[in-house]
Amino acid sequence: MDILLGLQWGDEGKGKVVDFLAPQYEVVARFQGGPNAGHTLVFDAVKHVLHQIPSGIFRPQTQNVIGNGVIIDPIVMKKEIEKLLAQGIEVRQNLYFSKKAHLILPTHRLLDAAQETAKGVQKIGSTLKGISPTYQDKIGRNGLRIGDILLPNFKQLYQEKKAQHLKILTEFYQHDLSSLESEEQAFFEALDFLKTFQLVDSEYLLFEAQKNKKRILAEGAQGTLLDIDFGSYPFVTSSNTTASGACSGLGVAPRHIEEVFGIFKAYCTRVGSGPFPTELDDEVGEAIREKGQEFGATTGRKRRCGWLDLPALLYAIQLNGVTQLLMMKADVLSGFEQIKICTHYQLPDGTKTQEVPYDLVQTPVSPQYQTFEGWGELHADKIQHFDDLPKTLQAYIRFIEEATQTPITLVSYGAKRTDTLLRQKLAETV
Ligand code: IMP
Repeated sequence: MDILLGLQWGDEGKGKVVDFLAPQYEVVARFQGGPNAGHTLVFDAVKHVLHQIPSGIFRPQTQNVIGNGVIIDPIVMKKEIEKLLAQGIEVRQNLYFSKKAHLILPTHRLLDAAQETAKGVQKIGSTLKGISPTYQDKIGRNGLRIGDILLPNFKQLYQEKKAQHLKILTEFYQHDLSSLESEEQAFFEALDFLKTFQLVDSEYLLFEAQKNKKRILAEGAQGTLLDIDFGSYPFVTSSNTTASGACSGLGVAPRHIEEVFGIFKAYCTRVGSGPFPTELDDEVGEAIREKGQEFGATTGRKRRCGWLDLPALLYAIQLNGVTQLLMMKADVLSGFEQIKICTHYQLPDGTKTQEVPYDLVQTPVSPQYQTFEGWGELHADKIQHFDDLPKTLQAYIRFIEEATQTPITLVSYGAKRTDTLLRQKLAETV
């Protein structure tokens, strides 16, 4: 199994790369997260956004698995599937749900809103899709799984969970419940719809795939710096977004991991609250946002933008055991005279480090930059090989490769499938 995951705060462009690599894999599997994700793919001049479905769904030969580590909102899922069916995509045959994936209930979404509001200025900036309360119930051994919808007493189990949630929502948060009735109706309609799909013990599907030497690609969501353990806690999501999450979120043993593709943007973005050392709260940041169209695929929120953060990238590479780096959105930096990379952090006591401190909120760091000469516009018809890239972009890439001791095997310079330079090692691996 190969793993592909984001090395920053999400939104690195995983959807485009999975779609690009999917023909080389028989199985593409999501292992964590839920509808907080938004994977954008552009082909045949149409933009597609996937939230919960693996990005291999557009390739008719690929089996797509939603693993046990994922959490599913049936209402969002139904809409997502219906959109794909309307486009003639083979969803019924090619999509498999792990019965062990947990369900996001309508009350989980209300709890998410109530908990965020209660945090006030300390709020996480959650996508409000019910992620944290659903994972809380999973870990609290109090959740409902998608396999449970096949049980004759599912409605009763649902009512029991709902009653617990309502107690918290009314007594503790005094939260508005006016939307609940219509949400519940949509929820049960969506469950009836999902019952007609393939609900399986997906770990067995993957055991079988491994036995038959089928190639599996595990597709991460969010990014390493949002990992529940290693991200900028508490400003993180509620799952393990790092490589180990692929094992627990799919039931694939660690010894089966082969390549780990780490995706990063040529700069950084972050959506939601929390520390962001290289953030550019100025016209340069604004220019990156406009040029890169850095607005959330799920919430439409403005993404915060900044220069590439090498200490954070080094941390992510080590946590995930990245074997190949894939650099996205090189075109967004076209036209800048100067481009910077943060090579070190300076700590409040004046010392320099490349380590990410325990708590970036309590230990604000001052980024130390190295400046690079910019590059001009990049055109697909002129780029076949690395040597066709502008010299200044080549220098930027080489610097990152040397600093991380990891090859950059794919350079993406536009949203389309064709705006992609594949370098030797990746070409050999896939
Ligand atoms: P949650 O996962 O919705 O609870 O949100 C927790 C934090 O992760 C917030 O700062 C979100 O903005 C961020 N987040 C969650 N999913 C994504 C994603 O797919 N891309 C980027 N940020 C995300």
